[in-house]
Amino acid sequence: MKFFVDSADVAEIKSLAGTGLMDGVTTNPSLIAKSGRKISEVIAEICALTEGPVSAEVTATDLDTMLREGRYLRDIAKNVAVKVPLTEAGLRACKALSDEGTKVNVTLCFSAPQALLAAKAGAAFISPFIGRLDDIGEDGIQLIRDVVTIYRNYNFGTEVLAASIRHPVHVLQCAKIGAHVATMPPAVIKALVKHPLTDRGLDQFTADWAKTGQSIL
Ligand code: E4P
Repeated sequence: MKFFVDSADVAEIKSLAGTGLMDGVTTNPSLIAKSGRKISEVIAEICALTEGPVSAEVTATDLDTMLREGRYLRDIAKNVAVKVPLTEAGLRACKALSDEGTKVNVTLCFSAPQALLAAKAGAAFISPFIGRLDDIGEDGIQLIRDVVTIYRNYNFGTEVLAASIRHPVHVLQCAKIGAHVATMPPAVIKALVKHPLTDRGLDQFTADWAKTGQSIL
């Protein structure tokens, strides 16, 4: 299972580089806006921090401009994956850019039939959003389960990139289902490390060790 970092904060991403916990990065227009920086600069800096795919999202909604934006973004670095929304124009852009050899991440996926269309359009990644479905009383994890099943049924090469992950249980559920990738904010990756019994156990070991008066080195 690959872990992508869902952030456009270069310092945050840098802190995870080299840990083995970051196989790529995803951004979106809201995250770029939050960074307060120019998209081309942020994406270039992030691409230098990982060899994995870095999703950079188009902001146009019409096909022609989407294609022009997508080509501009992919030329920033060789590991850019162009992100397009799951609309009719987005699917057409996905097909055209994929045919040109560009990795495309189709985002804002909220149904399994939408995910089927993205695979048929040649997407490298499909991003079904878990948390935003949960927020409206639907079952985001069931969407991941359905998409993984459908892609397996037909051997689609499109990777399921579970998105809108809000907490460690989402990650666990995605791993059990077999999602190829989970993209998550750095806070969720850090939360995965923590367990109160680990902290308590370590305190106990440290205290007991101190009583021995020994030192290993
Ligand atoms: C991923 O590509 C999305 O941009 C992201 O996971 C959305 O997460 P949110 O619903 O927490 O904003």
